Amino acid sequence: MAVTLIKNIKLLAGVREDNRLLRGKMLAKLNCIEDAYLIIQDGVIDAYGKMSELGHRVSDFSLQTDASGQTVLPAWCDSHTHLVFAASREEEFVDKIKGLSYAEIAAKGGGILNSARKLNAASEAELFNLAWKRLEEVSKLGTGAIEIKSGYGLTVEGELKMLRVIKKLKERSRLAVKATFLGAHTYPLEYKDDHQGYIDLLINEMLPVIAKEKLADYIDVFCETGFFSPEETETICRAGMSYGLKPKIHANQLNLSGGVQTGVKLGAISADHLETMDDTAITELANSETIGTLLPSAAFFLRMPFQPARKLIDAGCAIALATDYNPGSSPSGNMNLVIAMSCIQMKMLPEEAINAATVNGAYAMELQNELGSITAGKKANLIFTKPIPSLAYLSYAFGSNLIEKVMISGEWV
Ligand code: NIG
Ligand code: FE
Repeated sequence: MAVTLIKNIKLLAGVREDNRLLRGKMLAKLNCIEDAYLIIQDGVIDAYGKMSELGHRVSDFSLQTDASGQTVLPAWCDSHTHLVFAASREEEFVDKIKGLSYAEIAAKGGGILNSARKLNAASEAELFNLAWKRLEEVSKLGTGAIEIKSGYGLTVEGELKMLRVIKKLKERSRLAVKATFLGAHTYPLEYKDDHQGYIDLLINEMLPVIAKEKLADYIDVFCETGFFSPEETETICRAGMSYGLKPKIHANQLNLSGGVQTGVKLGAISADHLETMDDTAITELANSETIGTLLPSAAFFLRMPFQPARKLIDAGCAIALATDYNPGSSPSGNMNLVIAMSCIQMKMLPEEAINAATVNGAYAMELQNELGSITAGKKANLIFTKPIPSLAYLSYAFGSNLIEKVMISGEWV
C-alpha cells in the first residue's frame, strides 16, 4: 500500500464534500484550503486539511512531497475532443487568411472531408501513435480525463478504425478516456443526395458492431444547417440510445439549428458549442439536466462570436468548458488557454471557469464519482502550479505555462 503525503500546499483548490452538478450561481463557489496537506493512498485521495491539523503526524509518512509555494487543484476534465486525426490542416488556415470562403475551401476538398480522406488512408497504428503523442502533450498541460470522438472516418471501416484507436488509448493511457461515436459528423460526398442511405449505414452497419465490440460510450451528431437536421439527429441518437449510448451533441455552433432543443428532448448528457443562442434555447437548456459545454477556442479560431457564457450562467445553466481539439476548428488541446479565454472574452469568473473545467467537465463524461474535485475517494489526478499570487492569475497570465507538474492516479506525468 503506497501512501504519500503532499505537505505545505500554499493553496488546495477545488475541495468538495458534496458531489453535484454546478449550475447558475453555484458555479462561482470554489472551496479552497490555505496551507494544506493532502494524503494519497494507492493513487486515490484519502484525506486533506490544514497543515496545522496534521501536527506531529507529519513524521508518520515515509513518502512526502513538499508543495511549498504551489497551488494544487484537480486536473482538467476535457469533455469534448476530436483528438484522433491523421493530419493537421494549416493549409486551409492560410487559405482562410487569404480570404477564401468556407465554400471555396470545401470545393478544394477541404474541411471534415479532407480529414476523412486522410484518416481512411492511415493505418490504425499510425493513428494510434499520433493520438498518443497528443494525449501526452495535453496531459502535461494538466488534462487528466478526456472524451474523444470518431467522425473523421465516415465509412464503416474508417469509423470502426477510429473507435478501435480510441479503445486502445483507453486501455493504455492512465488518463480517463471516454469514447463517442460521431459517424454523423457530415455526409460523405457519395451520400450528399441520399441522406437516408448514410443514416441507414450508421444505424445498420456501424452501430451494431460498435455495440458488440463496446467501442463507444456516447453518440454524437453534428446538428447544424447543411449537416444533420434536428429530425435526422433524433433518429440517429435514438438508434444509439437503443444500444445504451447516451447522446452528447454538437448544437448551435453556426446557426439556431434547433440542436439545443433536440438535445434537451433526448435527455442528452451535453449540448456542445452554443455559439449561436437565443432566449428560447437558453431557457430550455437552463430548465434541463443537459450540460452546456462551451468551446471558446473553436469560436476564437473560426473568428466567431464567443459563447454567451454570462447569459447561460445567469439563466441557471450547468456549464462545462472543453477544447474541441481538432484539426479544423480548434487545433489546440490546451485547457489552460480555454479557461483564460472563458474569463477574458466570455466574462466567466476564474472560479466559474475552474469549476466548469473540472467538476462539470467530469459530469459531462459521467466521471463525477472518480474525478473533477479534491474529494476523499476520488482519483489523485492533480495539477501542481508554479508559484502564483492567486487563482485568478491562472486565467490572467494567459500566455505563461504556469503548470509545474501533473499527477495522474498518484503518479507524476
Ligand atoms: O467541433 N463542428 C463540427 N466539428 C468540429 C470541426 C470539424 C472539422 O473542421 O474538422 C468542431 O468544431
Ligand atoms: Fe467538436
